[in-house]
Amino acid sequence: MNGSLARRVALVTGGSRGIGAETARLLGAAGAHVFVNYREKARRAQRVAREITDAGGTATAVRADLTDQAAVSAMVGEIGRLDVLVLNASGGMERDAAPGYALRLNRDAQLALVDAAVLAPSARIVFVTSHQAHFHRERATHPEYEPVAASKRAGEDALRARVPELTERGIGLVVVSGDMIEGTTTATLLERRHPGTIDDRRGRAGSLPTIAEFAAEVVAAATAPLESGHTVYVGGGDYLEAA
Ligand SMILES: NC(=O)c1ccc[n+]([C@@H]2O[C@H](COP(=O)([O-])OP(=O)(O)OC[C@H]3O[C@@H](n4cnc5c(N)ncnc54)[C@H](OP(=O)(O)O)[C@@H]3O)[C@@H](O)[C@H]2O)c1
Repeated sequence: MNGSLARRVALVTGGSRGIGAETARLLGAAGAHVFVNYREKARRAQRVAREITDAGGTATAVRADLTDQAAVSAMVGEIGRLDVLVLNASGGMERDAAPGYALRLNRDAQLALVDAAVLAPSARIVFVTSHQAHFHRERATHPEYEPVAASKRAGEDALRARVPELTERGIGLVVVSGDMIEGTTTATLLERRHPGTIDDRRGRAGSLPTIAEFAAEVVAAATAPLESGHTVYVGGGDYLEAA
């Protein structure tokens, strides 16, 4: 989807906090009607939607656990046709996560949403991922993040396998991969378990992207004239040099 976001309809999965929330705000500021998806943090998602409307935009908070097919169907019915689908929601490090949950959310649920969504013929899908996941085969990660990294990479690969079929429908896929981002829940959890993690990443990379910088790249990827399957890298020069 090239051009303006004005009056386009966008869904941001996992828009209740962190990168997803900032992505939703930026999409709203650019004129899109934003559906802010969340799993359980209704108040946070409603606050994000209100921030968008207070700034002059339009937004709706929509609840759906992406691993619950009935909830996804209900959400899709509420939204209708989509121009931009930002696959941002991610998980698997939750304390109570069942075995296999990371793969169900980060691969299976991403594909199921793409299949269920009513995507406009020129729609753009943006898959949000981390360098730790994208470069999972090349570089080891922390053991706690390992199932997340492996399942997110599996999700990315499964989506990429859909590119020919999506292209036939006029739909594009862009992957946006970023280095570790301070202030996010994942980085905070990893820092807590392995003190020095964030400084170590900053030392290797030179600097780390901020939530605002990363979200701006996600939003740019929603309309930039990029070939389907393109990957946008944000930060982490050392990963790219080694690749
Ligand atoms: N953190 C980093 O350093 C970093 C770096 C580069 C890329 N990324 C990528 O950026 C994206 C967002 O990361 P983040 O750190 O901002 O995430 P986060 O803070 O963990 O937020 C996760 C979001 O996903 C939602 N969510 C979780 N499980 C869900 C489910 N089953 N169904 C629907 N929504 C669900 C949560 O909703 P509730 O609040 O309602 O639970 C929340 O809004 C991820 O794809 C991640 O790989 C992160």
